[in-house]
Amino acid sequence: MIPRLACAGALLAGALGLQAATPAEIERKIDALVVRMTLEEKLGQMSQTTFPGSLTDQARDQIRQGRWGSFLNAGTPQEKAEAQRIAVKESRLGIPLIFGQDVIHGYQTVFPIPLGQSASWDPDLVRRAARIAAREASAVGIHWTFAPMMDIARDPRWGRIAESLGEDPYLAGVLAAAMVRGFQGESLAAADSLAACAKHYVGYGATEGGRDYNTTWIPEVLLRNVYLRPFRAARDAGVASFMTAFNDLNGVPASGNQFTVRQVLRDEWKFDGFVVSDYTAIEELIAHGYAADQTDAALKGIRAGVDMEMVSTDYYDRGKALVESGRLDAKLIDQSVRSILRIKYRLGLFDGRAQPVPTPAAASADALETARKLAAESLVLLKNQDGALPLAKSIGKVAVIGPLADSPVDQMGTWVLAGDVKAVRTPLNEIRRMLGEARVAWAPGLKNSRDTSHEGFAAALDAARGADAVLLFLGEEASLSGEASARAFLNLPGAQEELAAEVAQAARPMITVILAGRPLTFHEVAEKSKAVLYAWHPGSMGGPAIAEALFGDASPSGRLSTTFPRTLGQVPIYYDHMNTGRPAAESGTEAANKYTSKYLDVSFTPEYPFGYGLAYTRFEYSNLKVSAPRMSMGGKLMVSAEIANAGSRESDEIVQFYTRQLAASVTRPVRELRAFRRVHLKPGERQTVEFTLSASDLAFYNARGQLAAEPGKFDVWIAPDSASGPMGTFDLVR
Ligand code: NOJ
Repeated sequence: MIPRLACAGALLAGALGLQAATPAEIERKIDALVVRMTLEEKLGQMSQTTFPGSLTDQARDQIRQGRWGSFLNAGTPQEKAEAQRIAVKESRLGIPLIFGQDVIHGYQTVFPIPLGQSASWDPDLVRRAARIAAREASAVGIHWTFAPMMDIARDPRWGRIAESLGEDPYLAGVLAAAMVRGFQGESLAAADSLAACAKHYVGYGATEGGRDYNTTWIPEVLLRNVYLRPFRAARDAGVASFMTAFNDLNGVPASGNQFTVRQVLRDEWKFDGFVVSDYTAIEELIAHGYAADQTDAALKGIRAGVDMEMVSTDYYDRGKALVESGRLDAKLIDQSVRSILRIKYRLGLFDGRAQPVPTPAAASADALETARKLAAESLVLLKNQDGALPLAKSIGKVAVIGPLADSPVDQMGTWVLAGDVKAVRTPLNEIRRMLGEARVAWAPGLKNSRDTSHEGFAAALDAARGADAVLLFLGEEASLSGEASARAFLNLPGAQEELAAEVAQAARPMITVILAGRPLTFHEVAEKSKAVLYAWHPGSMGGPAIAEALFGDASPSGRLSTTFPRTLGQVPIYYDHMNTGRPAAESGTEAANKYTSKYLDVSFTPEYPFGYGLAYTRFEYSNLKVSAPRMSMGGKLMVSAEIANAGSRESDEIVQFYTRQLAASVTRPVRELRAFRRVHLKPGERQTVEFTLSASDLAFYNARGQLAAEPGKFDVWIAPDSASGPMGTFDLVR
């Protein structure tokens, strides 16, 4: 055990932003170290495995021999400290281990799932949440988190959409960069910083049929204009590592893909951190049909530029023979080892980085308040007929019904390894606290979201009948989203729709709150509800955030970061699609034209578009102005609009800025998000919101594969969502 004093000293060093060493010093140290390393020791650095529970003698020996460069997930702080002591003091070269863990949306304090966080459109708050997660996780000896995940997903069947930052590459990039800054802090060497990991590189979210781990086909122009963009933003924010994905990408699995890793990431983007494979993804090159055997898998992984192999052991088992036989250039091994050591140096691991504090402190007030605020900002009000919400706190009696009203584990969501379940405050707790127990009738109706039994309905209907309003908490359990949790239906599982139908008959009014890890389809339930609030899996403090929104302490300000389909058959559906030669129209003469791109049995428009969300007031957008009809390639253009709060409550609004290029060397999306701003307006208040545009904002990978803006005509919107708002135009000229 390390005395607290040592830790306090290191914390101070961290707080002062002291770097372990300058970049040049680090490179010199790496040079000096690499020449002393044996090939086995190098391959050891390139190998990661799960933490050997209870540190057996065999594990201790392996650490002494430099068999592993890294361990992932689990291990108590004391075990980690002991493993590190052996690595540093008893291995030949004293190279420290790096401990990685999935700290995805909080550690002890659980923040909303990333998809929920992205609905906040609040990069600074997202950064602060990641900072708190880093503080809590680093206190137990974790150095490195496998986050943020920035896969663009356009298919809600894919369970990992819960871990994503939405469907838009710009928004996802801004938020991913914010998370990187939050995890990594001012300096990686600070005791409370975590190295971040941009994952899953790349294309994983385009999985066919929404089935996890499935194949992806993404033409290069789409890969570069959409899927790679958030990764570039993470790289520019200084992310320390990348994780290669499980998927086959255009016939070459992402974990053996020289084009995406060596060419794009290393050669084009000059990334100098290290690349880790996903879990056993190197050995999976064999099942993909890309590698003939383990030797071939090691060869292809290393050649692609995947520096560290997670869990499978092909690099270590086969790397030596590959080099000795001349099939693998030893320089590639050195490059990989250097990248790994570089991050270990930057983390200060060679310089006595602070060791874990033995027992993590309870969640701080700051952590809980940030979790509450982020949960509150992630809430999206989808419907509010006749101003049904907010409810008055003077209301007589409410019924709280539904399987998600009081389910702490489900409220935390997917990927929670250390979340403190006892600290979770559920909506039921908070509504009771707010109104007093006597005014709250509680009946779950169903045991969980998949329950198909109607046994609990009678009690739920009793509760509904005696109440002045019903708060119905529906959705999905945490286990229905996340890794390996694809669904072939997007409806509310179990007997939830039947429960809602029966409760709606008995209730006046029925307010539905949905807790889920993905966009669901719930048209009928929404029809029967006076109001619908989408809460995602909101984390530890979801209860207070939801109760405060329902009873009007704050106006919801979350906006959808993914398109919500009307029905599964519309998937994939996303706002930044191309126009087609025969676009469908909702109104005008073309609306009746059969030969346009639409369905016979459902509208072509989504249930709720990207960017959508209501508030407890009404915002009016007007007076869109473009500063000039023309912008030159080197020039700037100002676009502004007036936003007025035309309702009777104060609220935040997320003002969204979109463009469309009407013709170019490759077709461009019907709208693309360029910027956004959160404004706060009191009733009757109006504000002019201005965005500045330059040609570089309009650049895209064109028909020649170059990143450049092209002259042409543009439409531009300042809008409350991706499907409305006043429009202007301008020309981009040479
Ligand atoms: C597999 C997951 O795909 C990845 O996201 C995670 O970081 C690793 N396992 C490590 O747990």
